Amino acid sequence: MPGPDPILLEQRKQLPIWKGRQSLVRAVVENDTVVILGETGSGKTTQVPQFLLESNEFGNGTIAVTQPRKVAAISLATRVAAEQCSTVGALVGYSIRFDDQSSAETKIKYLTDGMLVRELLSDPLLSRYNVIIVDEAHERTLRTDLVLSALKNIQKERNTKRTDRKGKGPETVKNCPLKIIIMSATLDAQKFSKFFNNARILYVEGRQHPVKVFYAETPQADYVESALRTFFQIHIGHGPGDVLIFLSGQEEIESLEKSITLYAEHIPEGESKVLVCPLYAGLPQHQQNRIFMPAPPATRKVVLATNIAETSITIPGIRFVIDTGVAKEKSYILQQNRGSASHLHNSEPVVPDGPGFCFRLYTEDGFRQFRDSATPEIQRCNLTFAVLQLKTLGQDPETTEFLDPPSPETIQESLIVLFGLEALDHTGNVTSIGREMSNFPLDPPLARALLASKTLGCTSETLIILSVLSASSKLLFEPSADKREEIADARNTFRHSSGDHLTLLNVVRAYGEVRSGSGSDGGNRGAKEWCARHHVNERAVKEAERIEKQLKETCRRVGVDPDATCGEDTDAVLKSLLMGIFQNCAILQPDGTYRQTLGRLPVKIHPSSTLFTRKVPAIVYDELVFTSNTYARTVSAIEQAWLLDLPVNRRHD
Ligand code: CDP
Ligand code: MG
Repeated sequence: MPGPDPILLEQRKQLPIWKGRQSLVRAVVENDTVVILGETGSGKTTQVPQFLLESNEFGNGTIAVTQPRKVAAISLATRVAAEQCSTVGALVGYSIRFDDQSSAETKIKYLTDGMLVRELLSDPLLSRYNVIIVDEAHERTLRTDLVLSALKNIQKERNTKRTDRKGKGPETVKNCPLKIIIMSATLDAQKFSKFFNNARILYVEGRQHPVKVFYAETPQADYVESALRTFFQIHIGHGPGDVLIFLSGQEEIESLEKSITLYAEHIPEGESKVLVCPLYAGLPQHQQNRIFMPAPPATRKVVLATNIAETSITIPGIRFVIDTGVAKEKSYILQQNRGSASHLHNSEPVVPDGPGFCFRLYTEDGFRQFRDSATPEIQRCNLTFAVLQLKTLGQDPETTEFLDPPSPETIQESLIVLFGLEALDHTGNVTSIGREMSNFPLDPPLARALLASKTLGCTSETLIILSVLSASSKLLFEPSADKREEIADARNTFRHSSGDHLTLLNVVRAYGEVRSGSGSDGGNRGAKEWCARHHVNERAVKEAERIEKQLKETCRRVGVDPDATCGEDTDAVLKSLLMGIFQNCAILQPDGTYRQTLGRLPVKIHPSSTLFTRKVPAIVYDELVFTSNTYARTVSAIEQAWLLDLPVNRRHD
């Protein structure tokens, strides 16, 4: 085993958590569950697993560290691998939805909490792990809550079995006690402790760098514009230091990136320049890594990030934060960069130590309301996927112990949807279809559509469409109000008579052909130009391709031929989709409007649809967008007769 990197070791010793490492290891030896509380940047996520590994106290299984965000899992594994003088995938690895970088050698594994839930399906006692660290628990994502519920059961089972086995042979990983560590950056430790039978709480002393917070005096109507203004006020009026701006999504990030770049062109000669670095889930890894590199001389770096990315990554050099208030995340501490940039460049710190500044683009009152109204995700989101997973694990969602239980109505709704998808039978047990569905990292309705495509012989086509619908930006055409007509023309080039789903398929296939082509209008560069010409969002297409590749692997593993094609008989594709998303259907009414078949809501076809100007007897759509009207987006025409063939309707015969 290679030892720790000597230069990075010096940095690690500066972290607040370093001093407490021995008492921390002791606490974990003595207690099955420990809650660690410490502010962002104190070294919890990177150091705790290393302390435990280096102590040799916990058998030779793997240490899992769960993360709510995949970007964080990757960057943490990269950092910790460097601290251990190793490469990612060896001693330190990660595992996220469509990418597993771990091996038999891996002893510290960063993985999304969703991945841990998936692993439960094949290894219900998580026997390969002897320590499981649930990180960022304060965020209370649905998956984190599910992990906590599952861990509580598993620990009971593993640790009591172990007592029974005492004295019966050597301790294997399986009968090693399961240690659970819950890490949180806010003051809610009591709640976690109580859930785990009053588990021991450890507090990590913070760095306590002063952060000065400013609030907007009045509510801001256009926060993107307000962020732009605030950024240039900082740039002109404040000393050195990089800026981090939180926004709600990729589209906003791209729009602000454009505006900042545009204004920055007019910065007078001799003044500091600006380097914009976007950060969101769909961004390619090499671009994500840019945020960790120090800005060139006389340049201020500004990172535009969504809430997928932020706190679990510490970005060196940031001294100013602009919080638009639309990103979910609320609490973060500015990170001083005392040498912390050096793991990439071994350069000197770019900014001298000093206080940080946080500009909140909302009022102080707004902040209080925001903080007090935070509800755990499990109590406000769709639980279909979670309920299917619990059922597959043999747990009853209605009696499972949760940190905060979801409402019985939400569970009921999920049960009904799963019944409609034939994932559960009328007694509420998982069917073979349900089991097959849970193999796919897809929303249950989409997983059902995929299975239907196997029966209907159109998996190749269906997979591509489902990949687009599962991507973080599923809009393949740039949404832009001022170029609406040009975009509509471009879309028409790929138009399929049945509507948007097969049009998406045409776009992805055309892109693939251009890129695999040779000559000046082929290859990567040709593809880029092609996208610009057709107003196609290349990132979204690439993400869809990545997802498709992963889904194909899953298909092969579970005996679905991913290349089965229906050729011209594209009705099969729409019928497959319908098997999964039958809840999203609407029928044309005599007055020319559409009405949902299940929810009874009147809906209109979104102006971005290829069916916008046509009337068809019945439609299936991907999602509803609520603006002045209720719009169905990504819409295809279907035959009403197909609806009668659906299992939900057949049952009533
Ligand atoms: O988990 P916590 O917020 O307490 O701290 P951490 O994530 O373990 O970060 C400790 C230090 O590791 C940070 O101050 C960074 O200097 C460094 N780090 C890094 O360089 N790259 C990362 N992806 C994460 C952390
Ligand atoms: Mg952390």
